[in-house]
Amino acid sequence: MANLPSIASARMQLLPPYIFGELNRIKAEKTAAGVDVIDFAMGNPVDPTPGFVIDELCRAAREPKNHRYSTANGIPELRREAAAFYARRYGVKLDPETEVIASIGSKEAFSHLCLAILGPGDVVLTPTPAFPIHRYSPMIAGASAVGVAAGEGSDVEVQKRLLSGIDAACRTLTPRPKAVIVCSPHNPTARVFDRDFYPELIRLARAHGFLVIHDFAYAQTAFDGFKPPSILEFEGARELACETWTMSKPYNMAGWRAGFCVGNRDMVGLLKSIKGYFDYGLFAGTERAAIVALREGDAAAAAQAALYQRRRDVLCRGLRELGWEFNPPRGGMFVWAKVPPQFRAMGTMAFCKLLMDKAGVNAAPGVAFGEDGENYMRLALIESEERISQAIARMREAFVK
Ligand SMILES: Cc1ncc(COP(=O)(O)O)c(C=O)c1O
Repeated sequence: MANLPSIASARMQLLPPYIFGELNRIKAEKTAAGVDVIDFAMGNPVDPTPGFVIDELCRAAREPKNHRYSTANGIPELRREAAAFYARRYGVKLDPETEVIASIGSKEAFSHLCLAILGPGDVVLTPTPAFPIHRYSPMIAGASAVGVAAGEGSDVEVQKRLLSGIDAACRTLTPRPKAVIVCSPHNPTARVFDRDFYPELIRLARAHGFLVIHDFAYAQTAFDGFKPPSILEFEGARELACETWTMSKPYNMAGWRAGFCVGNRDMVGLLKSIKGYFDYGLFAGTERAAIVALREGDAAAAAQAALYQRRRDVLCRGLRELGWEFNPPRGGMFVWAKVPPQFRAMGTMAFCKLLMDKAGVNAAPGVAFGEDGENYMRLALIESEERISQAIARMREAFVK
């Protein structure tokens, strides 16, 4: 046999095995055996993109000038529209040349931003449990990701705990953290930050000298009149923070891959430089459609959030009847529920397999989001109200009787 080197790079070896693989395999087996699996596992939107956005894509797809390479930072019209959106929604005035960059979804912006600003020797703080890229993008960039436990309790208690955890970590860690990653509404825990959180985070960032990346993927997905704030609304934020934003959730454009990153011009500039090496930006037809979504899509985004709210209500009512513990979310696409006490000893992964096996219900095990996700399950609000009720009935039948 040839004496080949290890094919995977050292950084690939940092990445854990794909935890959903085993559940996907069981789901495929069940489906092949004719079981109708009710699937809450992935936050992958199921509802259609608004028709007027699709129409614009079709129109733009017929224009040859859109078939060329676009620009890595997005066409100027899209950046201007994103700035107009931020002015309208948040009262934040952005320079489309230097403070806005279009991206191939917010995940792309987030991960390339990490690569552009972080490297070996850098330390990053991430609240845990965490969306995997919040820990692994810094690690892929060579930095160390240190968790700050969100813990249990109300949103306000969690916010206080995170702020004091960030402060304490900055006082004790060497080297001092270079960046803090936050996300509200949060995936997977569905926590939100209130307006009081951000001035204090910015005060800490100034005092300890760290940057902030706010993953704002669920910016428009919020309930009961709650409006998630942009970090850029708060004084001092643009000196040290930027925010990633997506078209995926408010306009059901997840497969289109469109988003942007806004805020601190040095961070945006570095993202622009690195993207210049890695990609040619989005398809210009998608960019044209994204402009129309941003300009005319407020009502569609509000209707989508109202749909998620109705699904949340049905799911929370059902889980309450089953006696499961959770905090009803004020935003995001998930309910983060505790595994019932009698099933905790078997481990969350085993319980999710049991749930699939006995009830034909697929949920994401909390441990997929780090060790302190153990004992929790994440349920995405992607099934219809009727199917959510059906899932609750199956769970009652399987576990409560
Ligand atoms: C917190 C968070 N950030 C980013 C993303 C990815 O968004 P995009 O489709 O814009 O890449 C998701 C998707 O589930 C998410 O939950």
